[in-house]
Amino acid sequence: MNPVLIVGCGDIGMRLAKRLAPRRVVGLVRSAASAERLRCRGVTPVQVDLDTDTGICAVAASRCEVFYLAPPPGAGEQDSRVARVCRHWRGDSLPRRLVYISTSAVYGDCAGAWIDESAPLEPGSARGRRRLDAESRWRRWSDETGVPVVVLRVPGIYACDRLPVKRLRAGLPVLSPQESPYSNRIHADDLVQVCLAAMARGQAGAAYNAADGAPVRMTEYFFRVADCLGLARPPVVDRQTAERRLSASMLSFLAESKRLDNRRLLHQLGVRLQYPDLASGLAACRSEAVAPRG
Ligand SMILES: NC(=O)c1ccc[n+]([C@@H]2O[C@H](COP(=O)([O-])OP(=O)(O)OC[C@H]3O[C@@H](n4cnc5c(N)ncnc54)[C@H](OP(=O)(O)O)[C@@H]3O)[C@@H](O)[C@H]2O)c1
Repeated sequence: MNPVLIVGCGDIGMRLAKRLAPRRVVGLVRSAASAERLRCRGVTPVQVDLDTDTGICAVAASRCEVFYLAPPPGAGEQDSRVARVCRHWRGDSLPRRLVYISTSAVYGDCAGAWIDESAPLEPGSARGRRRLDAESRWRRWSDETGVPVVVLRVPGIYACDRLPVKRLRAGLPVLSPQESPYSNRIHADDLVQVCLAAMARGQAGAAYNAADGAPVRMTEYFFRVADCLGLARPPVVDRQTAERRLSASMLSFLAESKRLDNRRLLHQLGVRLQYPDLASGLAACRSEAVAPRG
């Protein structure tokens, strides 16, 4: 079997590694603490900072199935990490296949419309432009090297241990449900099975909306999570107040509204989602919370 390399082996990478067992998985991380965590969980760590040239040349990717999950840098309009990796992975060190986790921010604001993968890519934020830059770089690299690349456009990832508890406890406000944008999600466990399906069956060069297909307005999301966790619902404010009280990054999420059509994912990749909507995902969190610990 081909070796597996997970570049950016954080939360999703570790979930993926667990599903891939007993295959040997190598996980690339930046920090010593993360490398140690991988080692403890049976993943072979490689500690490399993708913001520098040293190290990446030593990462053996040849014949590997690569899941590239590392985010772009936090500033700028380009993904210099992907640029660096594409420069180094040439000739003898080419992977067999690569799945790249992008984000739905590449579409920008769509005024609440349903969109599939043919929608124009017009990111309205630097965050989205860095992702589009990464997608374009992978495509060019794939054309030049012949390595098949599959892109997953991922919206908000949630799981029982990935809910906005801190935000709700801090009492940060939300917009009225009608004013608030549509937001899209995927459960972390479903994202893992999507990654595996994309590696096994994804069409080379294709992009897939990796969403559950059941968008809700963002305010509705926070209300439902608060109800699920038994926390107070956040206060509702008008847009002007929200602009004073929320961070620039939260405001950038409020500026974009779209509903992701996931039919290509379901039909082409043959994925059967375990959590096809927020209700089923949150119900699983509730039953996990009440299950007796053995
Ligand atoms: N949060 C969301 O809702 C959401 C939505 C769409 C897409 N995504 C994307 O999905 C991907 C996977 O998410 P996740 O939750 O698994 O992320 P995560 O837990 O934050 O893991 C990110 C990993 O990337 C590594 N990394 C970051 N900068 C690096 C660098 N300069 N050099 C080498 N490694 C570096 C980190 O290593 P260290 O731990 O050592 O720093 C970590 O292993 C990310 O690209 C994320 O941006 C997230």
